[in-house]
Amino acid sequence: MKKPFFVTTPIYYVNGSPHLGHAYTTLAADVIARYRRSLGEEVFFSTGTDEHGMKIQQKAEESGMEPQAFVDSIAKEFQELWGKLNISHTRFIRTTELDHKLAVQKVLQELYDRGAIYKGEYEGLYCVGCEQFKMPGDLADGKCPDHNTVPELLKEEAYLLKMTEVQAELIRRIETGEISLKTERYKTEILSFLKKETLKDISVSRKNVTWGVPLPFDPAHTAYVWVDAFLNYLTVLGWDGDLKSIPEEWPADVQFIGKDILRVHATIWQAMLMHLDIPTSKLLFTHGHILSGGKKMSKTLGNVISTDEMLEKFGVDGTRYLLLSAGNFGDDVDLTPERMIETYNAHLANGLGNLVSRVTKLSEGLRESFSPEVPTSLPEDFQVLLNEYQLADALLYTWKKITEANKYIDEHKPWILVKTDQDAFEVVIKKLLTDLSEMTLLLKPFLPETSEKIEKALKEGKTEPLFQRLV
Ligand code: MSP
Repeated sequence: MKKPFFVTTPIYYVNGSPHLGHAYTTLAADVIARYRRSLGEEVFFSTGTDEHGMKIQQKAEESGMEPQAFVDSIAKEFQELWGKLNISHTRFIRTTELDHKLAVQKVLQELYDRGAIYKGEYEGLYCVGCEQFKMPGDLADGKCPDHNTVPELLKEEAYLLKMTEVQAELIRRIETGEISLKTERYKTEILSFLKKETLKDISVSRKNVTWGVPLPFDPAHTAYVWVDAFLNYLTVLGWDGDLKSIPEEWPADVQFIGKDILRVHATIWQAMLMHLDIPTSKLLFTHGHILSGGKKMSKTLGNVISTDEMLEKFGVDGTRYLLLSAGNFGDDVDLTPERMIETYNAHLANGLGNLVSRVTKLSEGLRESFSPEVPTSLPEDFQVLLNEYQLADALLYTWKKITEANKYIDEHKPWILVKTDQDAFEVVIKKLLTDLSEMTLLLKPFLPETSEKIEKALKEGKTEPLFQRLV
């Protein structure tokens, strides 16, 4: 039996409500999961929430709630949003689940017993927003560029993970593609980082963070939140931390991550795996960020695009289409309210919606005698795009087919043919029905609800408008 296709998203911090960036990664993973299922493969699609650490401890305190109650309420928001966005995950994991915490402790004990972790002292500049130590070179004007805050200087007793020891082997695996970093630009970025200087051993424990998993060999410390979080990629499969029984799904076929969390994934996570003699990641696919009007979304700038507002305006499939078609998945993607409406109207309301309503109406008389041959497999060139995670290009591919079909109708004028040349009319309509069936198949992973509606419309011969034109 072939092992299931395993796709992961990062697990999201629950320091605040979910935002569009979270939705973006999860949607991409959902499309891939649906695509793989459509190829007949079994799929394990994991997502979830990262619920420990300083940042969340602080937020819970600010809100006057107990940390567990606080994380429960935000985790629920994520689960509800994934429901609204039609996310088809196999499992939603939370790092505060008991099984996960026990596995984390087992792994830390193992790392300690193997001598991969040792007690020492750690000094560095810590950005709570990133939950990461920063090198002076990472800062701009002394501030973390992602959070625009001055990191605090920390000096504390800590347990350190040996990084120097695995550095050469890590470089080798990345260079040979054993650990594949895509796209190429991100591979280059990580290799130049790794070759620049000797990696410092990193702290894997925190002394004054109580909201975390206690180290089994020294409960005065809790596990560093990233170490806890990375292990979700295995515990989500039901793994209990026993090195003799690594789940067959691991390593994942693809792990989607945003560019801001590439370095930790490509270094700390791989180092942990190497120390444990667990296979390293197969493919880390890094995507860019969503910008709003060319800028990072921020409350101060007032340019935050809310997922709920998008859902209200464009519906689930409209939102899915707009996010994934806005630009190349590896690059930063810019959204503006005007462009979203324009694309929605052109591609969905006028393009696809119009095509479906025209074809359903025109084919009314023929439905009894003709049912289109539904293609059994996706075209090769389309598969290549999705195998390479070129999601926007895959949508462009379907968009071309939609415009071609609309143009074909305009040129052949079947509403005239029906009166003048019945044979020619039938040829035209049969071609349209067949083409539309193929398009529906291509669109399925992206627009699951709409595809179902189209299939139904083609069968029953009636349709309500799929997408209302917006002004
Ligand atoms: N908890 C860690 C990940 C641990 S995975 C073992 C974390 N969480 S996060 O909630 O801050 O971010 C999760 C993901 O959302 C990251 O991949 C990040 O790149 C993505 N995004 C956050 N803002 C984004 C945009 N504006 N646009 C696209 N994705 C962005 O990091």
